Amino acid sequence: MSSPGLILLLSGPNLNLLGEREPAIYGPGTLADHVAVATAAASNRGYALEHVQTNHEGSLVEAVHAARGRAEAIIVNAGALSHTSWSLHDALAAFEGVVVELHLSNPAAREPFRHTSVIAPVSDGCIAGFGGIGYDLAVEAVDKLLTAPRVG
Ligand code: DQA
Repeated sequence: MSSPGLILLLSGPNLNLLGEREPAIYGPGTLADHVAVATAAASNRGYALEHVQTNHEGSLVEAVHAARGRAEAIIVNAGALSHTSWSLHDALAAFEGVVVELHLSNPAAREPFRHTSVIAPVSDGCIAGFGGIGYDLAVEAVDKLLTAPRVG
């Protein structure tokens, strides 16, 4: 039997503090809670999921490099690096699989500096503003992009 397709879930700076960090914005769930949701959603659809959290931009870039030729998809909540990191943009541009940008909050409804995502141009789409539900939705989006016939 062939091994299941791999989804890489990437979490950027400060997401290790979820549960304690600004719960009114990011909710009460911990990162471990969200990873568990994503892992179950992936497993239910026949995928394996690996998770990497780092507070370092270069480590995020290296995790994307390591996924090349290995993972079918990357789900990335890059935290504030979503708004600033052209090196992450370039790394994702060199990844040949599906890329889903993910945010717990809705950056478009927050401070102006959060309104631009520099990784949006190299993502297939973005799921934002649904709190922890987004982790399930992101896996569903990956699965549909990889398997469902495209109607648009
Ligand atoms: C975030 C939104 C970013 O603007 C912020 O810097 C984060 C978390 C989110 O999940 O809502 O760290 O990516």
